[in-house]
Amino acid sequence: MKEKIIIASDHGGFELKEKIIAYLNENNYEVGDLGTNSKESCDYPIYAKKLCKELLENNIKKGILVCGTGLGMQITANKFKGIRAVCVSDTYSAKMSREHNDSNVLCLGARVLGEGLAKDIIDVWLKTDFLGERHQRRVDMIEN
Ligand code: RB5
Repeated sequence: MKEKIIIASDHGGFELKEKIIAYLNENNYEVGDLGTNSKESCDYPIYAKKLCKELLENNIKKGILVCGTGLGMQITANKFKGIRAVCVSDTYSAKMSREHNDSNVLCLGARVLGEGLAKDIIDVWLKTDFLGERHQRRVDMIEN
């Protein structure tokens, strides 16, 4: 069965979101696109909230949010209990955010990253497992 990934963006992240959707489809993921659907100006908190609720209510494991910097998406997403959103610009942080922090939402900055780096970050983030053990204790401390 294909792993399901949900994705959303604001206008600043729209074009990169479309490229990421094509890339994920090519790589055999099932992708749920929650908008936005054009470059028309919109408010990133609406899309971050939509994605977080979808992820939490439907037990989806991973989501990707794209805006200009990734920062507004990260700040908003981390308001939701159970969401561990990380805005990263390098593959090492992407890997560690999975191994140590069990991140479940990846936030990307379309005005920060080139398409190639964004795809590399996504590859690493999707393929790296959480290490559990002492890291689980620490993640539990965040949640509680
Ligand atoms: C929109 O101009 C921009 O503020 C948004 O995409 C994002 O970068 C916010 O953090």
